[in-house]
Amino acid sequence: MVDYFISFAPMEGITGRIFRKTFDRHFKGVTDYYTPFITPKEKRGLDKKDIKELMPKNNDGLKIIPQILTNSYEAFNLTAKKLMELGYEEININLGCPSGTVVNKGRGAGALKDLDSLRKLLDGIYSESEKMGLLVSIKTRIGYNEADEFAEILSVYKKFPLAKLIIHPRTRMEFYKGKVHKESFSLALQEYSEKGRIDGLCFNGELNNVSDIKDLAHEFSNLNHIMIGRGLLRNPFLAEDIIAVNNMDRSKRLRLYLDDLLFGYLEEFNGSNAAILKMKELWFYVKESFEDSEHYLKDIKKAKGVAEYRAAVNVLFSNCRIKQA
Ligand SMILES: Cc1cc2nc3c(=O)[nH]c(=O)nc-3n(C[C@H](O)[C@H](O)[C@H](O)COP(=O)(O)O)c2cc1C
Repeated sequence: MVDYFISFAPMEGITGRIFRKTFDRHFKGVTDYYTPFITPKEKRGLDKKDIKELMPKNNDGLKIIPQILTNSYEAFNLTAKKLMELGYEEININLGCPSGTVVNKGRGAGALKDLDSLRKLLDGIYSESEKMGLLVSIKTRIGYNEADEFAEILSVYKKFPLAKLIIHPRTRMEFYKGKVHKESFSLALQEYSEKGRIDGLCFNGELNNVSDIKDLAHEFSNLNHIMIGRGLLRNPFLAEDIIAVNNMDRSKRLRLYLDDLLFGYLEEFNGSNAAILKMKELWFYVKESFEDSEHYLKDIKKAKGVAEYRAAVNVLFSNCRIKQA
């Protein structure tokens, strides 16, 4: 199979600093991590919390690409400068978030509605980033309402020196459900290979198992970069499966990862219930690693406090088999 660069998709509320460090300690195969979006803060770009999340020393030397969500190039440029001061050389702009409160302000996928404004936004960003020597990549959807909006959106992107174009081939209206539009990705591949820029394209969406990756490799044989989100949350061994690492003892390794993550959150939240809430959020995905886990999962969801949570996790691990690749 192709030797893919595998990026961990940004996931707000999930793939923060503690998660990234823990995941990377336990699993191989992920090349880099995109941070959940940062919204620029007035006058100062980043606040204390953002800085704590992003300080390279708090990220164990992982390759991190910070992501910014805004529809203002002034706000982007100010925040980008602060990120450069922290040592970052590449930043991503979010043109895909479908949430109502985000798109109503013309941010995320909302920026795809009005292409004149999009052009102005990118003009303001790229003219400054070129001066600063900063690489700026884009993570995008293929349209707001319809997939056929993508050709025009691409013609806007092609005017700018994107460091990378990461495509989640769905429209805003499709949120995270339904079939991905591979034909739209194919359009981008054609456009960019004409420019000899194939290295700059990345596919994201519904890569949930090795067979999905094989299909992708078959369809787009010259693609070498993929981004995975929920697939890695559901099956943390997925990147290892893709690069064909021999991964035995899945149950034991999964348990160690989840225990380590709990420990990290407990430390971060001073032992409070917030740590358990974070773990429960993850179980929504990681339950898919197990066969017939629904019954045992109920007790994890109901658990109040660390002791109940741990007991419920013990029972699940003793009773459910891990799905094999
Ligand atoms: C809970 C959640 C949070 C997300 N947060 C972000 C985000 O902060 N920035 C972003 O660009 N995409 C975000 N996404 C989208 C993912 O990065 C990714 O594009 C999407 O999940 C499709 O990829 P997948 O099928 O591999 O999960 C989020 C998705 C989910 C489900």
